[in-house]
Amino acid sequence: MHFRDGFLWGAATASYQIEGAVNEDGRAPSIWDTFSHTPGKVLHGDTGDIACGHYHRLEEDLDLMADLGLQAYRFSVAWPRIQPDGSGAVNQRGLDFYRRLVDGLRERSIEPMLTLYHWDLPQALEDTGGWTNRETSERFADYAGIVYEALSASVGFWITLNEPWVAAWLGHGYGLHAPGHRESGKALAATHHLLLGHGLAMRAMRETGRDNQLGVTMNLHPALPGRDRDADREAARCVDGQANRLYLDPVFRGSYPEDLISFYENRGVNPPPVRDGDLETISIPVDFLGVNYYFRHTVRDAPDQEPSQEPFSDLAVRGIVPHAAEKTAMGWPVDPEGLTQMLVRIKEEYGDPPIYVTENGRAVHDYVDPEGGVDDEERISYLDAHFRAAHAAMERGVDLRGYMVWSLLDNFEWAEGYSKRFGLVYVDYPTGKRIPKASAGWYAGVIRDNGLET
Ligand code: FCB
Repeated sequence: MHFRDGFLWGAATASYQIEGAVNEDGRAPSIWDTFSHTPGKVLHGDTGDIACGHYHRLEEDLDLMADLGLQAYRFSVAWPRIQPDGSGAVNQRGLDFYRRLVDGLRERSIEPMLTLYHWDLPQALEDTGGWTNRETSERFADYAGIVYEALSASVGFWITLNEPWVAAWLGHGYGLHAPGHRESGKALAATHHLLLGHGLAMRAMRETGRDNQLGVTMNLHPALPGRDRDADREAARCVDGQANRLYLDPVFRGSYPEDLISFYENRGVNPPPVRDGDLETISIPVDFLGVNYYFRHTVRDAPDQEPSQEPFSDLAVRGIVPHAAEKTAMGWPVDPEGLTQMLVRIKEEYGDPPIYVTENGRAVHDYVDPEGGVDDEERISYLDAHFRAAHAAMERGVDLRGYMVWSLLDNFEWAEGYSKRFGLVYVDYPTGKRIPKASAGWYAGVIRDNGLET
């Protein structure tokens, strides 16, 4: 089973999840430093203070990528390393780190794919309202311009935001992520300002006239009714509205999904604070869409549900995991079919954009065996099935151009701390030692062959 020539195989990470060195070279705190240091927010009180120590092990990690044969590496830039206060003065030492990273990738013929925002907002901006404040969108565009100016000659792929749904809803609607707010109205405001920030950043980068690929990454999940009834079908449509259409529609069609907005308005929740021209800015054409795919949502109507920290509870909906499903260590169902389905839907309903899978992978209860290896069979069969699902979408005409496995390294899995391992490479946290898992060797073979055995 072959992928097309030039298909880009890679792996992904994010700054706060791997770098550590949170107080070094002028970096200031982000909302994730504050949140992880707040008792009760992250499992076991874990923080990103040290993480994988990637900031200090850059050369070693670059060599690991080369050993895997990666063709691309998706990473994110920590805004509080570049502008510690979220605005104004640039911290040159922060830029220098990413310059070394990008040069190291180029020396190894690995294509850099840079994400500007993977959730580590400078705390100083949160102190003035964060993403609920419209000015943050403008600060984001300034920051994008700074990083673009410094690195656009050596980085071909630029992603403005990672998963605006997660930043808006887990961060502002359900309180499970930083900054920990719990109000649907704040989540809608954050959604709008994140998307506006995306559009303003797109404009700032385009205006330089430099020819790079610019896009945005969304986590997309098909939504299925839990039971064969109209109420559950309606619940699934509502979840689809919040999880998928609330992001796809403004970027690709220049409008918000009316059904979802009126659902909230009917419950007294303010709609996204749109001003004239915003939707034109948000829908500036992207060169590609980044898709992060993990699973499908299966949902039931739950009319008596009170809004809580449970995602979608404010939609009077409850998510379930089908009993029969194989589950990952995150408790997420293994569901490759949903990837084909989502990719085909984007082609059919959103104008057939070029697509990169910018994240996909699974958590496994990995351990080092007495021989010193990590035999993650489950990850191999998961990736194998998802690569085939992606291939099936390509056979149906989807313009899929590359695939980034989440993740290169085990890392700080947000509210789950270090308890969940997603890496192709095992990290022994007390020592920082890296051990490529069985999946790393297997993936290197897939990359070499540009395909899978049938
Ligand atoms: C995604 C995030 C990524 C990682 C994976 C498991 O939502 O973008 O940082 O945590 O999930």
